[in-house]
Order: sequence, then structure tokens, then C-alpha cells
Amino acid sequence: MLAEQDAFEAERSARMVRAIYVYEAPLRLWHWVNALAITVLAVTGYFIGKPLPALSGDTSAQYLMGWIRLLHFSAAYVFAIGFLARIYWAFVGNHHARQLFLLPVLNPRWWGEVLYELRWYLFLVREPNKYVGHNPLAQLMMFLFFTIGAVYMILTGFALYGEGQGAGSWADELFGWVIAVLGGNSMQVHSLHRLGMWVTVCFVIVHVYAAIREDIMSRQSLISTMVSGWRMFKD
Ligand code: HEM
Ligand code: HEM
Repeated sequence: MLAEQDAFEAERSARMVRAIYVYEAPLRLWHWVNALAITVLAVTGYFIGKPLPALSGDTSAQYLMGWIRLLHFSAAYVFAIGFLARIYWAFVGNHHARQLFLLPVLNPRWWGEVLYELRWYLFLVREPNKYVGHNPLAQLMMFLFFTIGAVYMILTGFALYGEGQGAGSWADELFGWVIAVLGGNSMQVHSLHRLGMWVTVCFVIVHVYAAIREDIMSRQSLISTMVSGWRMFKD
């Protein structure tokens, strides 16, 4: 935890610098691929639970739900393998690559800055704090809603997938226990997985709002940083 604190201190003093390289290429590529995968998952998932009205003609010629499910499962593989690759990058990437998984919870100053950021987002303070990596509130929210959320969606999703693949399939062997732990009722797991989608959608709405708001108000670059990797400080 001490190393985290040192890095935190270094981050504070680095605010004097005008531009600094933050997000390495694999992390940036992962961010946008992951965003696309989640968008596809949310749209196709919505229609899996609330199918469109039946089409006229022979079902095997239409295969509409088949395509929707195929898209969902393809995006699910991209999402899950991407998440594993992101965990790998937390080990080999720079300090900021670890922020999504490790919170400096033992550092009281970090908690103080979480509260400061909360007041900043609520328009209660006038001066924005500047950060090289994620601001403490963003880091906390990303951990709670994305990191934990992703594990939850992967566990419940692959459990349902295992049920579809049949008893004894690899997905059933690896994730079948999730259905048992959640009450043994697959309909219940469907509902919990669907609830996870709405939590994810809420996270994405707030996340995109915060990214655009900070880009305009916090005197430092945000969205272009997730494209080029460089954080620019405006004064
Ligand atoms: C952010 C990620 C994800 C979102 C937003 C999402 C969303 C959804 C939604 C809304 C449903 C419909 C639930 C219902 O009302 O019955 C669904 C179903 C399903 N999802 Fe996901 N999902 C995600 C990730 C995954 C993953 C990683 C897998 C793993 C393979 C997966 C596999 C499934 C399966 C098997 C079904 C049921 C399909 C069926 O019964 O025809 N999902 N998903
Ligand atoms: C489904 C959609 C999205 C999801 C799930 C998502 C998720 C995430 C996650 C998990 C991070 C942390 C990255 C890390 O530390 O590895 C992040 C960072 C970031 N995202 Fe997204 N994102 C999405 C869409 C977007 C969009 C559309 C924008 C642009 C408007 C955006 C802008 C950013 C920015 C600027 C950062 C870096 C923030 C900072 O430097 O503190 N994201 N996002």
C-alpha cells in the first residue's frame, strides 16, 4: 500500500507538468473495444429478454433471434477475453493500468479527495483538482460499477450460456455453480443478469456525462487522453 501512496504523491506533484503520457496503447484499444462490446451486449441482451414481435414467413429463413443471440455471445467472448487481457495489463502496464483494480483505501487523503471530487461534481466548489490518472471519485466508481460489474456479468452470463450449451459443456462445468448459488432457478439468474444490464447502462450514462463535463470544466484533457494517451493541463 505504501507504493500506492508514493505513486499518489508523485501524481499530485506531477500536476505542475503541462502534458504527461498516461494511458498506454493496449489500455486505450481495450477501452474502445470494450465500450463497443458492451453497447452490443446491452442492445442484443435487451431484445433477448423482450423479443421483437414475430416476423411473417418461415422462422428458419428469418433466424432473427438466432442472429441476436449469436451477436450477444460473440460480443460476450470479446468482453470476457478483453477483461482477462485487461487484468494481464494491470500487471505489466504502468501505474495507471492498476487503478481499475487497486484502490488506495488505506490512504485517508485519497478519501478526502474522493469527497472533494464529489463536491466538485455537485458544483459546490469552484477549483478543479488535477490528476494524471483517474480522479479518486472516478476511480472508486469505475471499480464499484465496472470492475465488480464486469465480474458479475461474466459469471451470470456464462452460467446461462452453460445451461444453453448443455450439462457437461465447458461453460456448464466452469460456471454452472453460479445458478445453484443464486437459488438454483435459471429464470432468477436471467432477471439478475438483466438487472446488471440496467446498472451498466446507468454507469455508462454517468461516465460519458462525467467525461464530457470534465473535459470542458476541469482544465485538463479527458476524452482525447483516452485516444492519444496524453493528458494535457491547461493551467
Ligand atoms: C455487460 C455485459 C452484458 C450485458 C449488458 C448483458 C445483457 C443481457 C440481457 C439484458 C439479457 C436478457 C436477460 C433476460 O431478460 O432474460 C442477456 C441474456 C443472456 N446473456 Fe448477457 N449480457 C452481458 C454479458 C454476457 C456475457 C459475458 C455472457 C456470456 C456468454 C452472456 C450470456 C448471456 C446468455 C446466455 C443469455 C440468455 C440467452 C437466452 O436465454 O437466449 N451475457 N444478457
Ligand atoms: C460502454 C461504454 C463505456 C464503458 C463501459 C467505459 C468504461 C471505462 C472504464 C472501465 C474506464 C477506466 C479505464 C482503465 O482504467 O482501464 C474508462 C475510462 C475513460 N472513459 Fe470510458 N467507457 C465507455 C464509453 C466511453 C465513452 C463513449 C467515452 C467518451 C465520451 C469515454 C471516455 C472515457 C475517458 C475520458 C476515460 C478516462 C478518464 C480519466 O482519464 O480519468 N468512455 N471508461
